[in-house]
Amino acid sequence: MHTQTHTDDSLSGLLDLTGQVALVTGAGQGVGEAVARMLAAQGATVAVNDYRAERADGVAADIEAASGRALGVQADVSDPESVQAMADLVTRELGPVDILVNNAGNAGADQSALAPVPKFWESDPADWAPWIDVNFTGVLLATRSVVGGMVERGHGRVITVISDAGRVGEADLVVYSGAKAGAAGFMRGLAKSVAPHGVTANCVALGAVRTPTIEPMLQNEAILKKVLRAYPLGRLGEPADPAALITFLASPAASWITGQTYPVNGGYSVSA
Ligand SMILES: NC(=O)c1ccc[n+]([C@@H]2O[C@H](COP(=O)([O-])OP(=O)(O)OC[C@H]3O[C@@H](n4cnc5c(N)ncnc54)[C@H](O)[C@@H]3O)[C@@H](O)[C@H]2O)c1
Repeated sequence: MHTQTHTDDSLSGLLDLTGQVALVTGAGQGVGEAVARMLAAQGATVAVNDYRAERADGVAADIEAASGRALGVQADVSDPESVQAMADLVTRELGPVDILVNNAGNAGADQSALAPVPKFWESDPADWAPWIDVNFTGVLLATRSVVGGMVERGHGRVITVISDAGRVGEADLVVYSGAKAGAAGFMRGLAKSVAPHGVTANCVALGAVRTPTIEPMLQNEAILKKVLRAYPLGRLGEPADPAALITFLASPAASWITGQTYPVNGGYSVSA
């Protein structure tokens, strides 16, 4: 059981996820893919969700080819019916979910086109939905679909990927900043409500991580230089950087950690 007291001297045993079922949303590429691979490498059976079915199935097939256990599951985390169907399918095929990683996110901007972002006061409220629906409502929907079972069974892990934008704010990502901060606030309330039932809930807040979504922006030399100047450790994140912390938080090693938000950001924002 995840929430057991541990006194082991060796960390590696405490990172063993054999026999556990994990669901990772938006895991068809980028950070979610790295999380799915790492959880599987630690022994978990992983439901790989993406709303692009071919991405989910591709990552699941790669995990299976590497001797892991995985299932691709197409669902849109912002659609209540789609999320419930996903939870039902995963439970039927793999068993009840022990670990949920809310990773699916939407920064909104068309970064491949480097489109100028309108100022918040010039933005159209009709355009806010994708930020709020995926980054906030999607987290609530996916969590609701599995956390009741965790509470019943007396153990579970919920980990939500937010952004440093949700901690310190980003001028070009105002609504996204709010949606991510909202998700973190939700996780703090959730943590307190599920703690008596042996379930933990934490957030990981990312700085810029090299994923297919931001790669086109980084091809621009001037933008890359500007971004790198903001990162004291002198490089951008790789998907394995947050995946390592998320895997730790999902493991028995983290059984006394809940209600927290941990930055993984190369020193971009430094705080107490
Ligand atoms: N990459 C970064 O620099 C960065 C920085 C801060 C925070 N984040 C956060 O980290 C998480 C992962 O980011 P990434 O860069 O790997 O993203 P990405 O865009 O590269 O990959 C996200 C995946 O999620 C899927 N997805 C999008 N909306 C979905 C939905 N409604 N339902 C199911 N799947 C959906 C996409 O198809 C895609 O495969 C996101 O929550 C993002 O907001 C990323």
